[in-house]
Amino acid sequence: MIGIGLLGLGTVGTGVVEILEKRQEELKSLTGKEIRIKKILVKNINKKREIQIKENIITSDFEEILNDKDISIVVELTGDLEQSYKYIKSALNSGKNIVTANKAVVSKYFEELSSLAAEKNLAFLYEASVGGGIPILKPLKEELALNKITEVQGILNGTCNYILTKMFNEGLDYKEVLKIAQDMGYAEADPTADVEGHDTLRKLRILGTLALQGKIDENDILLEGISKITSFDIEQIKKMNSTVKLIGEVKGLDGGFTALVQPTIIKEDSYFANVNMAFNSVVFTGDNVGELKFYGSGAGKLPTANAVLGDVLDIINGTYRKGNPLGERKLRNLNTELKSEYYLRISLSNEDIFKSIEKISREVLYKNDNIAILTKEIEYLEIIELISSLGIDKDKYFIARVLK
Ligand code: NDP
Ligand code: HSE
Repeated sequence: MIGIGLLGLGTVGTGVVEILEKRQEELKSLTGKEIRIKKILVKNINKKREIQIKENIITSDFEEILNDKDISIVVELTGDLEQSYKYIKSALNSGKNIVTANKAVVSKYFEELSSLAAEKNLAFLYEASVGGGIPILKPLKEELALNKITEVQGILNGTCNYILTKMFNEGLDYKEVLKIAQDMGYAEADPTADVEGHDTLRKLRILGTLALQGKIDENDILLEGISKITSFDIEQIKKMNSTVKLIGEVKGLDGGFTALVQPTIIKEDSYFANVNMAFNSVVFTGDNVGELKFYGSGAGKLPTANAVLGDVLDIINGTYRKGNPLGERKLRNLNTELKSEYYLRISLSNEDIFKSIEKISREVLYKNDNIAILTKEIEYLEIIELISSLGIDKDKYFIARVLK
C-alpha cells in the first residue's frame, strides 16, 4: 500500500480524490499497489464537502500526517504560502516525498526546497504548478540533458486567458468574466494574484530558472497585469487585426537573460492568438530539439488533479528525475536591453499630458475622452517613469507590448 497525506480538499484536492476513486483498479494493476489517501488536512473540518469522505481521515492537525509512518507521499494543495512551506519542509525532514501544485511556495522557496529534497534523496515534484494539466516541467527537465534552452514563452494563467477571450469574443465586461472564472474554480483564492500577473510571474520564475539553469528571481521579471483593460482597449486592438494575451517570456542571452510578464498584442493569426479560454500553452526552444509547443487546460479541477497524480505515479514508479534539477549558472539581468513598441491608453483628456505622451508616440490611435497611442521602440520602465512623473493614477492607464 502507498499511503498519501493530502493537504487541502478544495478544487484540486477534490479532483485528486475523484480520479483516485475512478481509476483505482487500473492504478492497482499498473503499480501493483493500492494507492490510498490515509489522511486529509483541511482548515475547517466542519465544512460541508462536495464529495463524501470517511470522517475519520479528515483532520486539521498536520502532526497526524507527519507522524503517520504509512504516509510516504505528501500532496500539498492548500494554496497557503507560508504554512505550506512549513508543511513541505517538515514532511521532507521526516522522510516523505512531496507533490505540490502551489506555484507560490515553489517560486518563493525553489532553491531551498529543491536542495533539501535532493539532500534527503526524496522527490519534490510540482508539475501542476505550471500550466495546470499540461505536462511541461517533466519534458523540460528531460530536454535539459541534451539541449541548451534559449527561450521559454507562455500563456500561463487560465483565469487571465479566460477573461481576455470572453472580453474579446463576446464583448463581456471585465468584472463579470472574472466572477465566472472564479465560479469555474480557475482563480486563486485571492484573484489579484491572477489578474495582476503575479501567478504568471511565479510560473515564469519556475520555468525560467529550470530552463536557463541559473536563478531568475521573482523581482528579476518585469510585470504588468491585465486588471486595467477595458472594452475601449479591446476595440482598439481589434482595429489592429490583433488580439491580446498575457504572455510570460524568458530569453537567454550571452551571459544573462531578459524576463517579462506583460499583456501582449499579437496578430490574430499568430500561434498564441489561438490559445483561448482557460487553455495555456508553453513554447520552449532548445539548441538541438528546436521549438517545442505544449498546449492544454491551464486550470480546473480534473486537469490539475491529473497533473498532480502524474507526479504521484512518477514517485511510485521511480520515473522522475533524481537529484537537484536546478543549475548554478550566474546570470545577469539584461532587461534594460529590452525595447519594444507599446500600446498605451490613458483615461484622461488633458492637453499637457497629451503633449508629453506624444513625444514617445509613433501613432496616435485615439484622442478624445481617452488618449491611446502606439509608442516608438522604447523601454517599458521609461513609459512607467513618464506616467508616474505626470501623476497619472495606476487605474487610469493600460499598457500592452506590441509584437509585430
Ligand atoms: P482551494 O482554495 O479550492 O482549496 C484549498 C484547500 O486547502 C481547502 O480545502 C482548505 O481547507 C485547505 N487549506 C487552505 N489553507 C490551509 C492551511 N493553512 N492548512 C490546511 N489546509 C488549508 O484551492 P485550489 O484547490 O484551487 O488550489 C490548491 C492549490 O493548487 C493552490 O496552490 C493553487 O494555486 C494550485 N492550483 C490550482 C489550480 C486550479 O485550477 N484551481 C490549477 C493549478 C494549481 P477548507 O476546505 O477547510 O477551507
Ligand atoms: N489561478 C491559476 C490560473 C490556476 O488561473 O491559471 C492554475 O495555476
